[in-house]
Amino acid sequence: MAKIKPSKGHPYARILGVGGYRPVRVVPNEVILETIDSSDEWIRSRSGIESRHWANDEETVAAMSIEASGKAIADAGISAGQIGAVVVSTVSHFKQTPAVATEIADRLGTHKAAAFDISAGCAGFGYGLTLAKGMVVEGSAEYVLVIGVERLSELTDLEDRATAFLFGDGAGAVVVGPSAEPAIGPTVWGSEGDKSDTIKQTVPWTDYRDGVVTRFPAITQEGQAVFRWAVFEMAKVAKEALDAAGITVDELDVFIPHQANERIIDSMVKTLKLPESVTVARDVRTTGNTSAASIPLAMERLLATGEAKSGDTALVIGFGAGLVYAATVVTLP
Ligand SMILES: CC(C)(COP(=O)(O)OP(=O)(O)OC[C@H]1O[C@@H](n2cnc3c(N)ncnc32)[C@H](O)[C@@H]1OP(=O)(O)O)[C@@H](O)C(=O)NCCC(=O)NCCS
Repeated sequence: MAKIKPSKGHPYARILGVGGYRPVRVVPNEVILETIDSSDEWIRSRSGIESRHWANDEETVAAMSIEASGKAIADAGISAGQIGAVVVSTVSHFKQTPAVATEIADRLGTHKAAAFDISAGCAGFGYGLTLAKGMVVEGSAEYVLVIGVERLSELTDLEDRATAFLFGDGAGAVVVGPSAEPAIGPTVWGSEGDKSDTIKQTVPWTDYRDGVVTRFPAITQEGQAVFRWAVFEMAKVAKEALDAAGITVDELDVFIPHQANERIIDSMVKTLKLPESVTVARDVRTTGNTSAASIPLAMERLLATGEAKSGDTALVIGFGAGLVYAATVVTLP
């Protein structure tokens, strides 16, 4: 049997830079109230959301990704040409093929970087980060760009009281590269496909094409079931990720959970018994739920406002449609 040379990777990986893009248009709750019977007070008290951003025609999935990525690449202090792989997590890019990652890799000026899309809902960033870490450690890419990007406004039924106020648009990106010490902990991740009906697209695209339905497909969810699952099961997953990284809550500086609902965030903070010293991301208030983009967007904002700083130890956890989840402890760039 011929001997195959092993690939040459790095002992560890880290997040080297982060960038975000929020669409120009800010949509306050008042706009949502034009199509559903609700109130600003109800939306704020049940979800924490005051406003969200909706993309215009120019703010495509690729355009928002390129903006966020440019900032992440500059923040990492590398050039686009050094990127070996581009991973895009999205559920709202409406062209099945080719992957939008290839267009982004080209327009950013990478040198033929490997590029592909993944579909892992609101856990998409954690899934992408885990793949990126693997690539750097294994040696198939020196630097990996991980992008979470959504235009969920296009997948929102504005007449559905249960979801009309929840979703927003935006892109967040990080560059993952070699590290001299561990800076991305073990990922605790998984899927619970027996609950796949709790968050889903209303009907397949083909039903719309074939005239089975006249309403464009949208995301629908069983709010309470998802809420309960998130509150009870995801706090356990978050704790497992802390344990796997060997980090106690007292050693934690920052908590960046998926920005789905501020009451879920509050509940997790309580269950995990996070000390007051831990900075908690509450980007949901002005960004809404941007699915795969929510964690990198929240991370970028905490660093930009000075609420978190480079070198801080952060617990990140994403969870959503699938149902899927991914949690890990990272050192902030
Ligand atoms: C969507 C969500 C905010 C709804 O909050 P909730 O407290 O569960 O609300 P419920 O669906 O139980 O409804 C409670 C009441 O408010 C009413 N209601 C529902 N939507 C409403 C709205 N937009 N405005 C005003 N009232 C509303 C309901 O009719 C119900 O009234 P009733 O008690 O008279 O029957 C919440 O379930 C949630 O955030 N779920 C998880 C969302 C999530 O994380 N999704 C993504 C994961 S990736």
